[in-house]
Amino acid sequence: MKSKALITLLQDGKIHSGESLAQSMGVSRTAVWKQIRRAVDDGYEVATVRGKGYQLLTPVDLLNAGEILDGIAPEVRAGLKLAVLDEVDSTNAEVIRQWQPGSSEIPICIADCQTAGRGRRGKAWQSPRGENLYLSIGLTFHGGFAVLDGLSLVLGVAVANALESLGAKSIGLKWPNDIFLPGGKLGGILVELQGELQEGVVQVIAGIGINVHMSEADSVDQPWTSLASGFPAQKWSRNKIAAAIINAIHDATEIFADVGFSDFRAPWQSRDIFLGKTIHARSGELEGTGEGIDETGNYLVRNADGVAPVRAGEISLRVRP
Ligand code: BTN
Repeated sequence: MKSKALITLLQDGKIHSGESLAQSMGVSRTAVWKQIRRAVDDGYEVATVRGKGYQLLTPVDLLNAGEILDGIAPEVRAGLKLAVLDEVDSTNAEVIRQWQPGSSEIPICIADCQTAGRGRRGKAWQSPRGENLYLSIGLTFHGGFAVLDGLSLVLGVAVANALESLGAKSIGLKWPNDIFLPGGKLGGILVELQGELQEGVVQVIAGIGINVHMSEADSVDQPWTSLASGFPAQKWSRNKIAAAIINAIHDATEIFADVGFSDFRAPWQSRDIFLGKTIHARSGELEGTGEGIDETGNYLVRNADGVAPVRAGEISLRVRP
């Protein structure tokens, strides 16, 4: 975004004189005027108030690394390597590229927009500029792939806790880890595994997408919503949401690494949007009623033949139309 410096100064929505903007940016009045034209080209609405200056009419919620780090517990902050980018193909791909072998730092990438955002099952993830949160975090576990049982669900619980701590109510989880509000899908989590399994060390990239301000999306194939439309009375800040999610994931994965999935089963079940609903799985082959999850995080479907577990992977669960 070419006009970021100017938009940062105008983001309070107040009128700023050309003179004060020129001083703050260390440029001439003419350069300010050119920046205003660039901001308009970037899609911002900027009013020229005669005799007074310029006022940004488009609401903005800019990403700021300092604000994100301020919201993170100091003992957690010290171990992070945070990159906040204007644009990237996919924050998951960037974490994979930046991950230093053997480093104990936790790599995190957050971007204002993604040009090739990845969703589950090979789908694209709509990632328009400035509107949503696109965050990826690299997590290291010891003990081989078997210790990852249930991790995907743990991440869903952590994200739900984070959003609830900021005032979002009724966060639901759709197995394994979609984040829901009553109005539709609010966000999703893509878990990818990195590299070879070496002496039991497993690297996991958890990519989280949360719809924050998004008001339109052309090619999303299911009902969706955003924090701003679910909770319009609240002022949503992507920096605060990012900090809350990083804190929550850090805390949850420490517990998970120590004791496994058991502590997360009840918090996950209490948010299960399929519980008691008629659902079908395995491409329609299995139909029944949602029964919650077992002790390793498989989803349970009850029908006339008994209770059948549905394992995480490429199997989707849907409420029967
Ligand atoms: C889903 O399909 O529900 C999972 C969506 C995950 C999207 C996030 S946005 C940040 C990270 N980077 C990506 O390319 N994907 C994940």
